Amino acid sequence: MSVHKELKKITTHSLQEMKKNGEKIAMLTAYDYTMAKIIDNAGIDVILVGDSASNVMAGHETTLPITLDQMIYHASSVIRAINRALVVVDLPFGTYQANSKEALNSAIRIMKESGAHSVKLEGGKEIKDSIERILTAGIPVMGHLGLTPQSIYKFGTYTVRAKEDEEAERLLEDALLLEQYGCFAIVLEKIPANLASKVAQSLSIPVIGIGAGAGVDGQVLVTHDMLGMTHEFSPRFLRRYLNLYENMGNAFKSYIADVKSKDFPNDKEQY
Ligand code: KIV
Repeated sequence: MSVHKELKKITTHSLQEMKKNGEKIAMLTAYDYTMAKIIDNAGIDVILVGDSASNVMAGHETTLPITLDQMIYHASSVIRAINRALVVVDLPFGTYQANSKEALNSAIRIMKESGAHSVKLEGGKEIKDSIERILTAGIPVMGHLGLTPQSIYKFGTYTVRAKEDEEAERLLEDALLLEQYGCFAIVLEKIPANLASKVAQSLSIPVIGIGAGAGVDGQVLVTHDMLGMTHEFSPRFLRRYLNLYENMGNAFKSYIADVKSKDFPNDKEQY
């Protein structure tokens, strides 16, 4: 009997094939077992265990407070659920910027302790050493440019990035460098659609956008946003597929009313 489990169907290589064949890549976030199982069964290509867990799961204002241990907890819950998707895990703030050795150790902990397939880092040429050192250990790296939420205190706002020529040129330069360092894909967040499209055309690796228009190779959204569970966050790029904030609220109200009125449980709902 073989001890090897069947390989996961989506690999970094399959994403590159999708780009070559013009097939768009669909990516969503997940932070827990149940949600990851539903998303994976629906046929998603990539699941991102994003550090947006800091906002969505823990209620922090920014992504900065989430720790490596917490990311490993979320990632291992997701990994136990999936059969098909490629799982990418964000290296949280402060675990890869100081030096490349720390970056490698952080990435190794994620891979070893959660069973994830790859990591994502925010930034361009300033994190070259970290990216290259992680890659030497055979860990696939996804880049992230444009709006990089871990640098929110440097920029001060969550507005669209790279609208000016100089910043746009720097972004394109960084994207080309990320490809050159060996990243298997990059995320572009909240930048003009024309620029994102130019980046996607200039790179042979897949470019996955969030608020970056239709001219890229794939799209990613935060699952809780696209399900309408978060109702205060309404950027232009967000398409809501459900209104779960209201639907779940109504279900909770019905349950409370049923308990209070002694309607629940009824005769058939007990032993
Ligand atoms: O943490 C996250 O969810 C992300 C996406 C917004 C791309 O990085």
